[in-house]
Amino acid sequence: MLRPLGVQIVRGHSDDPAIQPFLSARKTLAASRRAGMSVEEYIDHYSAAPGATMETVDALLRLADFSEKVERVCEIGAGSGRYAARVIISTYPDSYEIYETAGDWLPRLRALPNVVLQPADGHTLSATPAGSVDLVHAHKVFVYLPLVVTIGCLDEMARVVRPGGVVAFDVVNEDCLDDEMTENWVASGATLYSMISRSWLLKRLAQRGLSLLGSHFVPLSGGRTELLVFRRA
Ligand SMILES: C[S@@+](CC[C@H](N)C(=O)[O-])C[C@H]1O[C@@H](n2cnc3c(N)ncnc32)[C@H](O)[C@@H]1O
Repeated sequence: MLRPLGVQIVRGHSDDPAIQPFLSARKTLAASRRAGMSVEEYIDHYSAAPGATMETVDALLRLADFSEKVERVCEIGAGSGRYAARVIISTYPDSYEIYETAGDWLPRLRALPNVVLQPADGHTLSATPAGSVDLVHAHKVFVYLPLVVTIGCLDEMARVVRPGGVVAFDVVNEDCLDDEMTENWVASGATLYSMISRSWLLKRLAQRGLSLLGSHFVPLSGGRTELLVFRRA
């Protein structure tokens, strides 16, 4: 009815550059069903990295080396919940908080055990008290958010982690972007992704009491990211 007036109704979305949707839940779930795979398997397969989710979580937990029960976990940008499901199955936290801006993935995330969906404003972890979580993590999120948003999220991760707790996330840095990956990205026009300096990041997080425990390379679209795992002093 509105077309003749030159008006089109489109689904509402945020125009905040901090809020960047990624995979559509409906399409991804349908495609994984068609492929006869779990969503985790399907996304790993789609990213040409079978087994990558499991390997990443194994590496994270190995580096974190939790000596006591993990009671409270927080994740930013959980998407399909593929990392959340693995962390929950491995650590059985009492509470697993998620800040996810894409509403279409929330019903799936809500169904995971002990998940608390927090109000995601795209910038802060405002519902999580300072020094309250054993582990705060994010995967494939800071590879494509604007730099200032990533910095804000990292400051928030440093705020909410308890002393002795762990912060983990992956980024594209100079140790990832070798000649082959650079050529791949140029050839495929991978305009989505951006790089962050490793030394700058380590220095900034050290100023916030986070020291690097270790790292692990993770596949990403013709290249790789580095999962960095830190302990709060
Ligand atoms: C590339 S996907 C990765 C999803 C999941 N971590 C994985 O690796 O399968 C990035 C996710 O972060 C969410 N996201 C984007 N911007 C965000 C923000 N500012 N705060 C919280 N989540 C955000 C997107 O909706 C999406 O689900």
